[in-house]
Amino acid sequence: ERRNGADHYAITQRTAEIEILPGKKTPILGYDGEFPGPTIVSRSGTPTVVRHTNALDIPVVVHLHGGHTPSVSDGFPTDFVMPAGSHELPHGHAASGRIKHGHFDYEYPMKQRAATLWYHDHRMDFTGPTVYHGLAGFHLIHDDEEDALPLPKDERDVPLMITDRAFDGDGAFVYPALDPTMLEEPGVEDDYMAGVLGDVVLVNGAPWPELEVDAARYRFRILNASNARRYRLQLDPGPSDGDPFTQVGSDGGLLAEPHGLGDILIAPAERFDVVVDFGKYDVGDTVTMRNGLGDGSTENVMRFRVVRKASDDSRIPDTLSEVEELDADAATVTREFEFARATSSTGHDDMWLINGKPYDPERVDTRPTLGEIELWRFVTDVHHPVHVHLDPFQVVRRGGRPGPGTYDEGWKDTVDIRPGEVVEVAIRFADYAGMYVMHCHNLEHEDMMMMSNFETM
Ligand code: C2O
Ligand code: CU
Ligand code: CU
Repeated sequence: ERRNGADHYAITQRTAEIEILPGKKTPILGYDGEFPGPTIVSRSGTPTVVRHTNALDIPVVVHLHGGHTPSVSDGFPTDFVMPAGSHELPHGHAASGRIKHGHFDYEYPMKQRAATLWYHDHRMDFTGPTVYHGLAGFHLIHDDEEDALPLPKDERDVPLMITDRAFDGDGAFVYPALDPTMLEEPGVEDDYMAGVLGDVVLVNGAPWPELEVDAARYRFRILNASNARRYRLQLDPGPSDGDPFTQVGSDGGLLAEPHGLGDILIAPAERFDVVVDFGKYDVGDTVTMRNGLGDGSTENVMRFRVVRKASDDSRIPDTLSEVEELDADAATVTREFEFARATSSTGHDDMWLINGKPYDPERVDTRPTLGEIELWRFVTDVHHPVHVHLDPFQVVRRGGRPGPGTYDEGWKDTVDIRPGEVVEVAIRFADYAGMYVMHCHNLEHEDMMMMSNFETM
């Protein structure tokens, strides 16, 4: 609904039971009782206001991932939206956040380019369980530059949200930390520490789905919304000639030029906007999207069945967008962030830390100046998908090699750091002074304190 020059959406967060596995009911926490939540569509330059009403019995926080958003609407981890009528804050949390009751109008100015964003819960200490139970949805932004391109459109422009889940015999999601007795079983606590994995891959909430496609080009906006699982997406069989995927966009919107990919290595929270040409297959063919990092059931992502010949006037132009390159040499400051598990000598057992410190919502770790380019170095022990709020960045060096790696093209807001690797990014914050977070997007790592505040000024 368009009112006072802004697009308005209203979403109610509530419990629901939905059918994911045939004949079984899965209780979820859902935006409007759905999983994935409803897709929100914005126009660049037109503000979008989303009223979130909390009809759950727990506090929630909504974050628009990839949003260029003023701090009050960014979903700071202690800015709780309390259930209507409840005034009891979660244990151990002082009223440090900007607390709301019953509902909150999140305001997104949409001063940003076309991109595939998503929204999800972001409550401190509790993001893993709420997202796992369903609090995630797409939020797309369109603009004139993208509209003018001859890329596949409408029913051939398909967002794909990939998640993995485990189910019990009744169809309920199994999330170990909600059942503390499970953590006492051998190995389970370590699995939780590493990040919660499921053994069933869901695409847009469905296990091993099949999409009927025309023998034509399709644009897929692929989001890995899993808590902790990484995927290597492959097409089987591949096309007779050329790359199976042509990447046209990443987290922060269109690339300058298309980028051929043999496969897609995607970490939690990353987005790959790709074109697949089913015109290179025959009618009747089934093309499987596999996960090369999976085994058994986690190898299976989805299937495409080519059902008919069809006209296709789409095309992938040689130039997609005018993309500014951030000049890393112009960086005014270099900062280092070390992502590592606590060793007992620090006194914090079993936690994931940034620069040796557990997350504290009151502590400001970094104070970037708006408008200045900074060089941020991410250093890790094991795999961590590092995410920064407010503005995207560009990868300038990975593992000692200059330039972005194969899967790092374009504007990124989440970057996967491999064990023992250093990744350097150029970043520049703009427009909004205030408190934001950067964190590991393995949601269990995030909940176990691998998060840090920065305050722009
Ligand atoms: Cu997608 Cu701070 O999160
Ligand atoms: Cu984010
Ligand atoms: Cu991590």
